[in-house]
Amino acid sequence: MRNQSIKLGVFGFGCVGQGLAYVLNQTNGIDAEIKKICIKQPDKKRTLGKDIFTTNPDELFNDPEIDVIVELIDDADEAFSIVKKAFINKKAVVSANKKMIAENLQELYKLQIKYAVPFLYEAACCASIPIIRNLEEYYDNDLLASVEGIFNGSTNYILSNVFEKGQSFQSALDEAKELGFVESDPSLDLEGFDAVYKTCIAILHTFGLFTNPEEIFLSGIQNLTQFDIDFAMKTGKKIKFISKCTRKDDTVYSYCLPAFINGNSPLSNVKEEYNGIILESGFSQNQLFVGKGAGAEPTGSAIVSDISALRYNYKYEYKKFKQGNKLKIDNGITVRVYMRYRPYSSIDLSRFSSIVEKFSNAEGSYIIGDIELENLCYYKSLNEEKLIIVLIEER
Ligand SMILES: NC(=O)c1ccc[n+]([C@@H]2O[C@H](COP(=O)([O-])OP(=O)(O)OC[C@H]3O[C@@H](n4cnc5c(N)ncnc54)[C@H](OP(=O)(O)O)[C@@H]3O)[C@@H](O)[C@H]2O)c1
Repeated sequence: MRNQSIKLGVFGFGCVGQGLAYVLNQTNGIDAEIKKICIKQPDKKRTLGKDIFTTNPDELFNDPEIDVIVELIDDADEAFSIVKKAFINKKAVVSANKKMIAENLQELYKLQIKYAVPFLYEAACCASIPIIRNLEEYYDNDLLASVEGIFNGSTNYILSNVFEKGQSFQSALDEAKELGFVESDPSLDLEGFDAVYKTCIAILHTFGLFTNPEEIFLSGIQNLTQFDIDFAMKTGKKIKFISKCTRKDDTVYSYCLPAFINGNSPLSNVKEEYNGIILESGFSQNQLFVGKGAGAEPTGSAIVSDISALRYNYKYEYKKFKQGNKLKIDNGITVRVYMRYRPYSSIDLSRFSSIVEKFSNAEGSYIIGDIELENLCYYKSLNEEKLIIVLIEER
């Protein structure tokens, strides 16, 4: 990268785009400026002068002065086209788009090599927590056993308000939306897709394994009811939305699902829009990272950090993948879960290997039982049951 001020071409000026502009304006340590911003709706009211905006992407791609494309839009397919076009035009790329990255990880890896351009995406995995660079650089020799944490700020905001402040699920969701913590498509957060995308990214940088989002076991919090909240509270627990990937010999198992957490867990005190990540490694053992996982400024700050790293030609090396390993995803572990479904429903429970508790009344039915993670997929697909699965423990 040349020595003059870095010129940025930014796609998107929503929550994160505006956060980037604000953080850049406040920090003296980085010599970078936004030259042009490509947006979708030309007539929307903006907080910067109109000369900086365009709706023509080519004004950014074809500008030889622009060194870096910063992709901050909310449309994953369009974002992938933008990143590819930037690579072809030999421009470095910074992105926060976990959906686009997770769905195209392998191809993005190949394209970086083909066009020899750096592609950084720290903000895409737990926003302000510098986890990717740590996994890439600091933990490149340690034997990482697992990564577990709260990867989604909006569901954590909702669940914290429900369990700490006694708010209803709906009012906590409305508040999270108002504060801009929820994605334009709320199902990305509530149904857990956002966390799955981040988990795919974490698996690559932790274990050197490329995964598809469909390979991660996923069950969201969209069907959580007061019945489940009361159940958790009666047993002295909170519910948190947990993402985890663990290495077991030559396999990795991974899930994103709500879990009962007791007060001793380090994740119990990770509240509101904060994310928390526990790295378990062979030598340094357990380490906890906590930071804001959503919001304009925390996310903008991670993007500024990536832009700054480009100044010294930093790029991810994907060493753990390049070292070669025979790892594959295998979700054949047994878990104990609480599963709540419609009252008096005659649901087939034969996929459970054992059932330790069963309950039904006019408000709901639940069972507690042991089951292989893979077999849980069947229950998850029973949409009419409006069921929720909450992890109790791994067996
Ligand atoms: N919000 C967070 O806390 C957060 C945290 C980490 C990562 N992210 C990721 O960051 C990205 C942006 O999120 P956001 O919350 O900033 O979204 P947002 O507030 O909904 O803003 C999206 C922006 O993208 C623009 N846009 C959409 N399609 C476009 C296109 N084809 N060409 C040019 N501009 C286009 C929109 O333009 P108009 O303004 O003209 O409508 C808008 O400015 C997403 O990938 C998200 O997953 C968000």
